[in-house]
Amino acid sequence: MGGNISKVPETMKRLVLVQGNSDITKVQIKVEEIDVPQPKSGQVLIRVCAAPVNPSDYGIWKRAIGTEEKKDPIPMGKEGSGIVVRSGGGMVANRMVGKKVGFVNIPHGQGSYSEYVVVTAMTGAFPLPESVPVEAAASFFVNPYTAYGIWETSVARGSPGCVHTAAASQLGQMLVKFTKDKENFTLINVVRRQEQADILKKIGAEHVVVTGNNENWKTELKKLMDEHKINCAFDCISGEMTGDLVTLMPNAGNYFTYGGLSGQPCSGINPIDMIYRKVKVEGFFLTSWLTGTGQLNMIRRINRASAAILPALDNGWSSSQFKDCTLDNMFEEFCKMWATGFTNQKLRIRMVNEETEVEINKAVAAAAEDEVNEETEVEINKAVAAAAEDEGEKIKISHDVAFKINWSGPEKKVKAEVAE
Ligand SMILES: NC(=O)c1ccc[n+]([C@@H]2O[C@H](COP(=O)([O-])OP(=O)(O)OC[C@H]3O[C@@H](n4cnc5c(N)ncnc54)[C@H](OP(=O)(O)O)[C@@H]3O)[C@@H](O)[C@H]2O)c1
Repeated sequence: MGGNISKVPETMKRLVLVQGNSDITKVQIKVEEIDVPQPKSGQVLIRVCAAPVNPSDYGIWKRAIGTEEKKDPIPMGKEGSGIVVRSGGGMVANRMVGKKVGFVNIPHGQGSYSEYVVVTAMTGAFPLPESVPVEAAASFFVNPYTAYGIWETSVARGSPGCVHTAAASQLGQMLVKFTKDKENFTLINVVRRQEQADILKKIGAEHVVVTGNNENWKTELKKLMDEHKINCAFDCISGEMTGDLVTLMPNAGNYFTYGGLSGQPCSGINPIDMIYRKVKVEGFFLTSWLTGTGQLNMIRRINRASAAILPALDNGWSSSQFKDCTLDNMFEEFCKMWATGFTNQKLRIRMVNEETEVEINKAVAAAAEDEVNEETEVEINKAVAAAAEDEGEKIKISHDVAFKINWSGPEKKVKAEVAE
């Protein structure tokens, strides 16, 4: 357990943003070659296999980065998947060597559009089920956990469903597939083109309202909302859509903006809707939803969501439809999509060629055979027990440890009751 599983080169390639631009096609991006980062204690080095290009990534490119105030190129990308090839030491990090992982929470100065990244094993690397091809998990976090959070938040607000805009997005399609079997939950999808409605119907959507070329879309939407007593809306378009949806909400309804695809500020809100009808206007942000109500709830939420998401990454509800590119041609492919639309194609950068794939598969197979030995198990149990006795750090340590271990598979389960 621990150590290295494959040869790691001295240097690696990654993409950096040199100069942002409000005209996204004029953004300056370059491939740079730098030293491979070294993991410290508690960290792992991941050979990145794939990373998605998300709207929140290119949202940043449009801002004025690279101007007088900030001249350093910015590493790009916030999530991805790969294989842990080296540990910097420590129990959790050592146990991950050779594992397929999804990764997020990348330390400052790195990005996922890189051949290698270092993350903290405990908080940044999610071991994946063996059955999931590593590249299928490139978008394992941002969209699926948000879809899950949207569903849970609607239920928590007492709404038997929700309205969802730009609903043919990858996230929207996940939400359709995830909620279609949920009892007492009605999803009302809003899209701008009929082709998008057809896509959603094909995957099982019951209610779709098309806004483009349809003067009656607000009446249609209001009728459905009333009929199904919906009091939550999740909107990733913003701009005028905010005011339109706030007005359509029932009294004391909940409007959440969670994206800015229109490129416009939230607008058109009638104060009457907020003052007299008490409609709440809020933002929804995955990180805040996960962390906002304390560490214990965060762990419970992540565990609940992970149990639903991770096994479904390969062709299940949490899977994405990708269009592949390389580090070298990412921006060219991005500009083509920018011109034609992103529906049904999320750009995914593949960092691994066939040769490295063979090497990685061999290493993963070898690591899978490397069972948790008794010594490690005793070490983990001791850590959990010690944490339970330590009053001051009780929840923090014991939950972290138990949570991470529970996560890596039932056969290695250490009971988390100590901290409940
Ligand atoms: N707040 C959070 O924590 C959080 C987390 C995850 C995702 N998000 C947000 O969720 C949204 C969806 O992400 P994704 O990765 O699933 O996106 P995606 O797959 O790239 O899809 C984007 C979709 O939005 C449509 N669209 C783009 N601009 C639009 C506009 N002005 N009006 C209506 N539809 C528009 C596109 O349609 P066309 O093909 O017609 O262009 C496409 O169907 C993004 O806004 C993202 O930032 C937020």
